[in-house]
Amino acid sequence: MALQKKIACIGAGYVGGPTMAVIAKKCPDCLITIVDINQERIKSWNSETLPVYEPGLNEIVKEVRGKNLFFSTEVEKAVLENDILFIAVNTPTKDYGVGKNMAADLQYWEIIARQIRKVAQSDKIIVEKSTLPVKTAEAMETILNTGSTIHFEVLSNPEFLAEGSAIRDLLEPDRVLIGSRETASGQKARNELVEIYRAWVPEDKIITTNTFSSELSKLVSNAFLAQRVSSINAISAVCEATGADVHEVAKAVGADSRIGNKFLNASVGFGGSCFRKDIYNLVYICRMYHLPEIATYFENIINLNNYQQQRFVDNVIKSMFNTVAGRKICIFGCAFKANTNDVRDSPALTVARTLMSEKANLVISDPKALENMKSELGDPKNVQFIEDPYQAAKDSHAILIITEWELYGKLDYQTLYDSMIKPAYLFDGRNIINRKSCYDIGFNVYSIGKESLIH
Ligand code: NAD
Ligand code: UGA
Repeated sequence: MALQKKIACIGAGYVGGPTMAVIAKKCPDCLITIVDINQERIKSWNSETLPVYEPGLNEIVKEVRGKNLFFSTEVEKAVLENDILFIAVNTPTKDYGVGKNMAADLQYWEIIARQIRKVAQSDKIIVEKSTLPVKTAEAMETILNTGSTIHFEVLSNPEFLAEGSAIRDLLEPDRVLIGSRETASGQKARNELVEIYRAWVPEDKIITTNTFSSELSKLVSNAFLAQRVSSINAISAVCEATGADVHEVAKAVGADSRIGNKFLNASVGFGGSCFRKDIYNLVYICRMYHLPEIATYFENIINLNNYQQQRFVDNVIKSMFNTVAGRKICIFGCAFKANTNDVRDSPALTVARTLMSEKANLVISDPKALENMKSELGDPKNVQFIEDPYQAAKDSHAILIITEWELYGKLDYQTLYDSMIKPAYLFDGRNIINRKSCYDIGFNVYSIGKESLIH
């Protein structure tokens, strides 16, 4: 039987766009509208150049846009006309008042709840897709249902996609998590959402829980993932001090099936819009519930990440005779990871800002993220943005690899070396180059968690 549902999604960002595009593809009889207050974004979604770069996304959007997937700025109309409302707006960290720099800023969330309540004329299922503190769904239900003649059921359905592999993650998720209340109306709403995912996700991968467990599981998942990166990055410093090799250690440790080998790539540090924000969110919840030891435990994941980013850039300065003022330094990659144009909280920002404060002349290169980096840094003096890595590195003293784009592992490092000022330095923040051959070419090579190769 055809699955005919009228769905709207509020928020056309990195989550809203790809998620709804995949639902539209897999549920061709569902009618889906994505709305956003950002007119530019909606214009891009309706154009040939989508605002989000994700492998495979263009193809799917082309297939479903104008058929059963529509992009619009008419938020109220979407609320009025649809029965299921996904909410995928950004949920930034509060930058004022109580919980500043730690708690989630829920003012936008509340605005949406009040807007829905004002406009809706029929019962709605609200699906919390954004990542939110535990009990947000409950608070939203209270705002929506108190004194209302229509019924709103709020479900938690956190998103686990990772940028750069969003389409694959959505098409073949490890799990879909749906949290609901155990009331009759809660179960009914949950079944409606399960029905949508069942169109392509095997039944045993659809996990249902109570709302609080679902909300908390999302924060915990990100904390556990980030914790693995911080653990291996902590060990990378020990490797550099002792002569061990972090790659070999990760391989040996990850071969234990209880530990597993994923997310053990030592790096210049993790970035992205979510790890820091979601861990702080968890830390704040722990403090609120008077669990200071637990808060400190998780907060240290971020402290270690800050340390790792700073350790990398300090090492650059130290290795270049403690001064980079007036020297040209080339940064390969500014996206927070490969295969995305997203630079939010990218380690490249810490590295670039530190080097700018040391008066270095920077050239930043990236295949997809230069525009976003430019607006993040404000296009300052002494920073050039050049996509072609060979042109970018010409006449520079050092190359810093910050993003693990495949292309940076495959460049002709002899040509790069020949065009640089000597001694030429290569700092590999992702361990993707063949360090031995780069050393043989003449570079001084610095890797994460491995002994440096210096002439
Ligand atoms: P984003 O900033 O890319 O997109 C959010 C969009 O919501 C923006 O375009 C913004 O204009 C819009 N918006 C904000 N308030 C609005 C309103 N009142 N009405 C209509 N539109 C509004 O954010 P994102 O990266 O897509 O993240 C969204 C949520 O999903 C966050 O809570 C995030 O933690 C979570 N999440 C993100 C990822 C990811 O990989 N980016 C993965 C899983 C979960
Ligand atoms: C992460 C989670 O993986 C998703 O499941 C989650 O949905 C998402 O956050 C979110 O809530 O926003 P994302 O941040 O897009 O996804 O990308 P990851 O692949 O998790 O990488 C995060 C950062 O860690 C990147 O900077 C990456 O380079 C770094 N990383 C990752 C390492 O340094 N080493 C690793 O081994 C793995």
